Amino acid sequence: MTGPHPGLDVEATRAMFPALHRREHGHPVAYLDGPGGTQVPQPVIDAVSGVLEHGVSNLGGGFGASHDAEEALAQGREAMADLFACDAGEISFGQNMTSITFAVSRAISRSWQPGDAIVVTSLDHDANFTPWVRAAHDAGADIRIAEFDPATGVLEPDAVGELLDERVRLVATCVASNAIGTVVDVAAVTRMAHEAGALVYLDAVHAGPHRLLDVRSIDCDFLVASSYKFFGPHTGILYGKLDLLADLDFYKVRPAPSDPPDKLETGTQSFESIAGVTAAVDYLAGLGEGDNRRDRLEAGYRHIGAHEEGLGTRFIEGVSGLGRVTVHGVPAMGDGRVATFAISVDGMTADVVASRLAAQGIYIWSGHYYALNAVERLGALESGGLARIGYVHYNTVAEVDRALEALAAL
Ligand SMILES: Cc1ncc(COP(=O)(O)O)c(C=O)c1O
Repeated sequence: MTGPHPGLDVEATRAMFPALHRREHGHPVAYLDGPGGTQVPQPVIDAVSGVLEHGVSNLGGGFGASHDAEEALAQGREAMADLFACDAGEISFGQNMTSITFAVSRAISRSWQPGDAIVVTSLDHDANFTPWVRAAHDAGADIRIAEFDPATGVLEPDAVGELLDERVRLVATCVASNAIGTVVDVAAVTRMAHEAGALVYLDAVHAGPHRLLDVRSIDCDFLVASSYKFFGPHTGILYGKLDLLADLDFYKVRPAPSDPPDKLETGTQSFESIAGVTAAVDYLAGLGEGDNRRDRLEAGYRHIGAHEEGLGTRFIEGVSGLGRVTVHGVPAMGDGRVATFAISVDGMTADVVASRLAAQGIYIWSGHYYALNAVERLGALESGGLARIGYVHYNTVAEVDRALEALAAL
């Protein structure tokens, strides 16, 4: 280490993202739709196109392009192992989080019996809900839903804990909500679930751009992410404990590898995307300083966190002065939330709010963003859902102020 890092240089960072120069309706675009997918820095674009430019092949050939594919896969596993603080052999790739979760839920639930139970949450994206619910139905297992408090936005670990007993085989929860930004104390949930003998499957898709995770200290059994949410291309990533993965019987074609992590990777992977995942992790590491990539990631995420904390606080304070706008969920920044805000505007549907901002080049989302249960629990599903504004580290104070002004003018 060479002394204190100056923090995040937002302008230098933004210069790395070609898409941030986009204009629409005569305005510079403010991408406040990060929760739906983030933009991609140039080194990631170069890594993806580099694979395609230099010659592509499949795994297992005795020539250069095939070795390149193997190398891209190996490097991708190493990079994700640094991001999650695990071993490269515990990382598998797949099409996206949803496809991976359906595959894992199929494999895990084969041992479930009628009378078993699972715990899922009302905070989760449907991709960490329906795959488990369908698998439980097929096995005759019961489904228990841990509810978050709609008044505070918090999912207390005890809301999971009180549903646990020896019948529960699995607990599935998000690390962070893609609707209201709540961060769940997943280490506490995991501890309680393990005491009851249940496995833990964590959805880290929304946490990815905001929080650096350490799967060993959380001690979760599985954790899944999606690289297009953390500045990479469209590829899903699974961490799984090796002994568990080894025991699970995944559907696969006969000649495909039968050992983890390869056995989860049904069909040919997108090697160009996996090279992009490596570049995305390196990009994040490049935001910090340190002697190795994990240390740089830790520093990089600290800078990201400090910047996002500032943006989120400015937004919350600004909104509190606009009588008509309500922010749902945890009322202040800090450990309990990321800067993802579901909002409602009195007398206006979420779609109208989003389209009025889009007309000014401000990209925000509206509806339920697949977090069906959460939006329903907030009482907004029937009325068209909620608008959602999300900030990531490439967003600026000026963009927060633009959103506030646009909301004030509605
Ligand atoms: C929290 C969360 N989980 C899961 C998903 C689904 O991820 P994927 O698009 O990779 O299937 C999303 C996508 O929006 C999400 O926000």
